[in-house]
Amino acid sequence: MDIEDVRDDIKKVLLTKEQIQRKIRETARKVDEDYGGNNLVLIGVLKGAVNVMTALMGYMHTTCPIGFMSLSSYGEGFESTGRIRVRSDLNVDVEGKDVLIVEDIIDSGNTLHWLEGYLLENKKAKTVNVFPLLSKPSRRKWDIFIKYPGYEIEDEFVIGFGLDYKECYRNLDSIAVLKPSVYQQERM
Ligand code: PRP
Repeated sequence: MDIEDVRDDIKKVLLTKEQIQRKIRETARKVDEDYGGNNLVLIGVLKGAVNVMTALMGYMHTTCPIGFMSLSSYGEGFESTGRIRVRSDLNVDVEGKDVLIVEDIIDSGNTLHWLEGYLLENKKAKTVNVFPLLSKPSRRKWDIFIKYPGYEIEDEFVIGFGLDYKECYRNLDSIAVLKPSVYQQERM
C-alpha cells in the first residue's frame, strides 16, 4: 500500500519508501561487516518489526538464524503501560549467540529494556544489540544504547512500515503522521 491509498488519513509523510529502504540497506551492510555471518541471530519483535526484519534480511549478504517474540505494552492505548506482555515466547535458541533485536520503533524504551534483560539473563545470549528503524528520544525512560540507529523523530503519532493504529496501516510502504481527527475521538 502506498501513500495515495491513505492520503485522507495522514497529516504528512515523514519518511518515504526510498529513505526507509536506504537506511535498512546501509544497516544490513554494517551488520554483514560487524558479524560476518558468525554467531548472529536476528530477533524481531512482533508485530511491528515484520517489515523491517524482512527488508533487513533481504539486503544482507550473510545468513543467520532468525526468531520472533510477540510483545506488547500498549494494547490499544496511546501510552506504554510499562508492563510487558509476552504474547508469544522466543522461537529460536540464542544461548551464547550475538543477538540483534530488530524493531520498528523505540519510544519509552520499556520494551527494549525488558527484552535485553530477558535475552541476557533468561535466554543466556552472549551479546544483545538493537536496530530500531525509528526512535523517539524525547519519550525515553531508560538510557538505551542503540548500536544501529535508524531515524530519530519527534513525538508524533506515526503509522506505516509495521507501525499501526488499531492494527491498520502496517502495510504502508512509507511512514506518515496520522491526522489527529482519525484518533482524537478516542482520546476524549
Ligand atoms: C511497539 C513497538 C515496540 C514498542 C516500543 O509495539 O513495536 O515494540 O511499542 O515502545 P516502547 O519503547 O515504549 O516500549 P506495540 O506494543 O505497539 O505492539 P505491536 O508491535 O504489535 O504494534
